Amino acid sequence: MNHILIGSDHGGFKLKQGIIDYLSTKKNITVNDVGTHNTDSVDYPDIANSLCTQLQKNNTYLGILCCGTGIGISIRANRFKGIRAALVYDQFTANMAKAHNNANILCFGGRTTLLEDAIDYIDIWLETAFEGDRHLRRLDKLDL
Ligand code: RB5
Repeated sequence: MNHILIGSDHGGFKLKQGIIDYLSTKKNITVNDVGTHNTDSVDYPDIANSLCTQLQKNNTYLGILCCGTGIGISIRANRFKGIRAALVYDQFTANMAKAHNNANILCFGGRTTLLEDAIDYIDIWLETAFEGDRHLRRLDKLDL
């Protein structure tokens, strides 16, 4: 994976900037920032809309979305066909998000998750392989 889309509302802005800095300086990953670009209040569904429509056009990309809790932005993202957005909060859920759910978006809360933890979970997600098999059958049922 060498292309990640990232977005946040104001509640996730600081965390997003830290993640961008990590991915672009420490990993060989192209990061496309869909905004927001400052801490002025914005509506998280608008950010999810922007990122998810771009991800639908290129299903080899992955995405990262942040809001205050990660909840609202994950709810909106999961209403898009083909999007599997996982709100992760520890190493186990980061691993399962890829191994079982093949999540193509990770969601974080800027008010609930430390940057160092988010980076750890992103690395786990990127390095874990989807297990396929019975999980593929279940993913096929998500967009029915
Ligand atoms: C914005 O204040 C906040 O509601 C939003 O960032 C997010 O936490 C919603 O789920």
